[in-house]
Amino acid sequence: MADQPTRKRILTGDRPTGTLHLGHYVGSLRHRVAFQDQFECFFLIADLHMLTTKPDKEDILRIADNAREIVLDHLAVGIHPDKVTFYLQSAIPEVCELQLLISGLITVERLQQLPTIKDMARAAGLEQIPYNLLGYPVLQAADIFTPRAHLVPVGRDNLSHVELSRQIARRFNNKYGDVFPVPEPYVVGGTLVGIDGQAKMSKSLGNAIFLSDDEQTLRRKVMKMYTDPKRIRADIPGTVEGNPVFIYHDMFNPDKEEVETLKQRYRAGKVGDVEVKEKLFRALNEFLEPIRERRAHYASQTGFVDELLARGTERTRKEAQATVLAVRKAMGLTGVWNRIRRSAERRQKRLAKQAAP
Ligand code: TRP
Repeated sequence: MADQPTRKRILTGDRPTGTLHLGHYVGSLRHRVAFQDQFECFFLIADLHMLTTKPDKEDILRIADNAREIVLDHLAVGIHPDKVTFYLQSAIPEVCELQLLISGLITVERLQQLPTIKDMARAAGLEQIPYNLLGYPVLQAADIFTPRAHLVPVGRDNLSHVELSRQIARRFNNKYGDVFPVPEPYVVGGTLVGIDGQAKMSKSLGNAIFLSDDEQTLRRKVMKMYTDPKRIRADIPGTVEGNPVFIYHDMFNPDKEEVETLKQRYRAGKVGDVEVKEKLFRALNEFLEPIRERRAHYASQTGFVDELLARGTERTRKEAQATVLAVRKAMGLTGVWNRIRRSAERRQKRLAKQAAP
C-alpha cells in the first residue's frame, strides 16, 4: 500500500441519537481514551446510519445538536481535541460512492441472514426492512474503508458487521488488487445494567445516567435505583451478586474497602439501602465531577466543537477522496473514463485545427 501510515488506524463511532451515558463510557468511551495515544483515531458521527431507523425530518433536525453533544462527551471524558479526528459521515459523499462500489461483493442473502438487521428493525417497530437498513453493514464497511482503518473497536453486537467488512476487503483485494487493509475487530468490553435493573443501559429505555447529568439529577436517579427486590427492610439479608447498586459500586467506587464492607453488611442485613445508595451517589458524583468540568470548559468556547468537527470532516474527506480514487483505479473505472475523455478531447482539437485558417 502506497501511503502506509506509521501508526495503526482506528475507526469507530456512534449514531447521533442523543447524548452519551455511563453505558457508553463502560462499553466504548473509556477504551477510546486509551486508544488516542496508541493509534491514529477516526471517530465518526454516523448520521447516515441513523437514517435507517430514524429518517424523519424531526430526527434529522436534531443531528447537529446531537453530534455536538457526542463530541463534547468525548472531550469531557478526556479525549484530547488535537489527538483524534471527529467527522460527520453525511458530509462526505465519497462514503456513499464507496458503499456503492463495494456493494457487488456481498449478496442480499448474506445481509438478510444477519440477526442485527432484524433486531434493529424490530426495535424500531418496522415490519419490513428498508433498503438502507439492509445495507447498514455495507455502509459500515465503507466507513471502515474510508481512512483504510486497520482496527475497528466494536461491542460484541457489532462483531458480525466487522466480519462482513473483512470479507468485502478480501474479495475486493483478490478481484481488483490490494487497496484495503483487512480490518481487525477489536472487541471492547462491557455493558452496564440500567438503573432499573434491565440488562442494558439505554436512552430509549429511560434507565440511563448521562455523562452530562448534574448533581441533583444524579442523586435522584441513584436514589430510585433498582436493588434486591426481596429486601423490604434494612435488617433482611440482601443479595449483592447481580444487584445494580453493587455492580455500579464495583465499577465506579475507587474505595474498594468501603465497597467490601458495604457488601458484608448488606449480606448480613446490617445496612440500609439509603446508606448504600448515598455512598454510591458520592462515588459517582466524584467520577462525574471532572467530566462535567471539562465539558463546561469546552462548551464555553463558542464554536470550538463545530470547528473541531468541521476540520476533522475536511481531513477525512481528503482521505475518502484518495480511497475512492484508489478503488476506481484498481477497478479500472478511471481507465474507462480516461479513454473516452481523451478521445473526445482529441476530436475537439482536430475540429479546432480544421476550423483554424
Ligand atoms: N454500527 C455502529 C452502531 O451501532 C455505528 C457505526 C457506524 C460504526 N459505522 C461504524 C462502528 C464503523 C464502527 C465502525 O452505532
